Amino acid sequence: MTVYFNGSYMDKADVSISPDDRGFMFGDGVYEVARAEDGALFQLDAHRRRLARSLEAIRIHDVDPDALWERVRGLLPRNGLDAGPAKVYLQVTRGAAPRQHAFPDASTEPTVYARASAHEPPLAKWRNGVKVILRPDQRWDRCDIKSLNYLPNVLANQAAQEAGAYEALLVRDGFVTEGSHSSVAAVFDGTVTVHPFTNRTLPGITREVVLELCEDLGRPVETFPVAVDALPDADELFLMGTTTGVMPIVQVDDWTVGDGTPGPVAQELLAAFRALEP
Ligand code: PDD
Repeated sequence: MTVYFNGSYMDKADVSISPDDRGFMFGDGVYEVARAEDGALFQLDAHRRRLARSLEAIRIHDVDPDALWERVRGLLPRNGLDAGPAKVYLQVTRGAAPRQHAFPDASTEPTVYARASAHEPPLAKWRNGVKVILRPDQRWDRCDIKSLNYLPNVLANQAAQEAGAYEALLVRDGFVTEGSHSSVAAVFDGTVTVHPFTNRTLPGITREVVLELCEDLGRPVETFPVAVDALPDADELFLMGTTTGVMPIVQVDDWTVGDGTPGPVAQELLAAFRALEP
C-alpha cells in the first residue's frame, strides 16, 4: 500500500513514526475521513475547510492544507483506487518532541500521514436500517474540533457493537448530541430536526449535504437539540456520516422506531444522497 507521510509517497511498511510523537503521547492532532468515487474526493472543499479550522483551533500552523489535499487525492491512482468507491484518512499531529504538556519548540515539524483504502457502501444496512443504543456523552467541550481524542467515542461504539448495534447515540444533559462517529437527525411530522452547530457536536459534512438536499426537496428543517425523552415521539431517526451515508435507524435500545422499517424521509434522502456526484 502506498501512503503519504511527511511530504512523500512511500510504501506503508517504510513509514517510521517516533514514539515521542505527540499524537501517540497526547492525541495532540487532528484528522479527516473523506470518501472518494472514481478518483474524485466527495465534498473536498468542505473537508479542506474543516481541516483548516481544526488545525487553527489547536494552533498547528505549519501545514498547507490545500497542497496536502492534492497529495491525498494522489493516493487514489497510486493504490488502484481511481475507479469505484474509496475512502481516505488524513492525520496531522504536532510532531515528535520530548514529552512535555506545553507545545514543543517551534522548530518541531508536524507529522502528516494519509492513506487510501477501498470503501464498501453499507448497502444492506441502508436497506434494512440499523439498531442504535443510548450512551452518556462523556466527551470534552470542544467536540467541534475533529481531534484525535476519541476515547469516549471508542468506548461508546464498542458498547454499541457488543449490544449488536451499529452506533451509540450520545446523550448530554438530557439531549441527544450525535453518534460516536456520525451525526443524527429526527423526523417529527415531516420536519427534519438536527442538532445546531455548537461546541457539543462535530460540524458533520454529510449533515450539511443532507440539509441542502432537504432544501432541494422542499423538506422543512429545524435546528435544535432533541431531548432524549422526545426520541420515542419521532416518526423517523437516521444517522449521517462519511462512511455511514444516510442510515435509517429502526431500533433504539429495546424499542422500535416507527414500524421498524426505514422511514420514507430517510429513504428519500438516502436516494438523493446516493445520486450525488463527487
Ligand atoms: N466520523 N460526528 C462524529 C463524532 C464523527 O466522528 C463523524 C465522522 C461525524 C460525521 O461527520 P462527516 O459527515 O463529516 O463524516 C459526526 C468519521 C467518519 C470517522 O471518525 O471515521
